[in-house]
Amino acid sequence: MSTETEPLLRVRGLTKHFPVREGFRAKGAVRAVDGLDFDVRPGETLGLVGESGCGKTTTGRMLVRLLEPTSGSIEFAGRDITHARRGALRPLRQDLQIIFQDPYASLNPRHTVGRIVAMPLQVNGINPPGGIKKRVQELLELVGLNPEHYNRYPHEFSGGQRQRIGIARALALRPKLIVADEPVSALDVSIQAQVINLLRDLQRDLDLAFVFIAHDLAVVRHFCHRVAVMYLGKIVEIGDRDDIYQRPQHPYTRALLSAIPDVTTLGPAGRIRLTGDVPTPLNPPSGCRFRTRCWKAQERCATEEPALVPQDGGNQATACHFPETGTISQGAGPAAVTAEEVSK
Ligand SMILES: Nc1ncnc2c1ncn2[C@@H]1O[C@H](COP(=O)(O)OP(=O)(O)OP(=O)(O)O)[C@@H](O)[C@H]1O
Ligand code: SF4
Ligand SMILES: [Mg+2]
Repeated sequence: MSTETEPLLRVRGLTKHFPVREGFRAKGAVRAVDGLDFDVRPGETLGLVGESGCGKTTTGRMLVRLLEPTSGSIEFAGRDITHARRGALRPLRQDLQIIFQDPYASLNPRHTVGRIVAMPLQVNGINPPGGIKKRVQELLELVGLNPEHYNRYPHEFSGGQRQRIGIARALALRPKLIVADEPVSALDVSIQAQVINLLRDLQRDLDLAFVFIAHDLAVVRHFCHRVAVMYLGKIVEIGDRDDIYQRPQHPYTRALLSAIPDVTTLGPAGRIRLTGDVPTPLNPPSGCRFRTRCWKAQERCATEEPALVPQDGGNQATACHFPETGTISQGAGPAAVTAEEVSK
């Protein structure tokens, strides 16, 4: 990881509300993302984790400007890109890429692999030394695919190989930051570790920064330098990887960790099984949004929203009035395992 301290990505108060209409009348808004603050340094990987519907994809799509933020700001390499228009975004598109969750839907079935990977180069008018074909074949090799398969079509590849094609396409413009939206969750568990390892090697070799989106903490465990845990449109805890996994302070982080099979001791709380559904982002609970499922909730939690603040002046910040203390222990675990969802 780079030693530079200036963040590559600086996000402040990032918000996305989707208006809901009944006929012509506004009927409120889905508060999908509600005021996120975080930085990503060059070469750093930030994991963004939370249950389905908490706003991860919406956040990722705003970061690469596929979605227009409602409010807040996104700075990339010192430039405010929050509302940058298409022309201004073009040079940024090279530095900022996204890998999608579904390796089947994200590749055009009528195009050859060579054409798919070459597309970002062609769209941006880039003619690399040695020509486009040579560059595409280098990229295929880089992601562990046979460069001779240049003329094959997506359906001739397995799910894991298709995700590698998506990764090669994302790398074509030598980006500085990649948003990876659940890049392995559509793959067999046996293939997940291979793709995670590939991303980790690329991250190290190319000094890439990642925002790596996942719905559980097991997947990002061996990949991320820092982790942000989201609940109902908010970050409830953010910190260095080891702090999040060994000294989680937010009850929700503890519950997510509890779903990882080899977390052996959770301290006095023991194993935690979340009950109840995630409330609707149309009308989130007052005060702390987690309070309807939190076993520690008290009156104050309903009236006062907890701020995301460092509890001990360190790097770890937690949005909770009554944070947990103490360390939990866990086994080494495989590189990528899928934890069963906690709250079904
Ligand atoms: N275009 C849209 N219009 C209205 N609501 C939307 C829209 N896109 C997303 N939402 C809502 O915003 C919330 C956050 O959705 P998002 O897809 O960001 O969640 P997620 O964390 O990525 O979930 P998953 O783990 O299922 O992918 C959800 O309640 C979703 O229904
Ligand atoms: S603020 Fe209250 S309800 Fe929210 S996580 Fe902390 S203890 Fe639970
Ligand atoms: Mg999603």
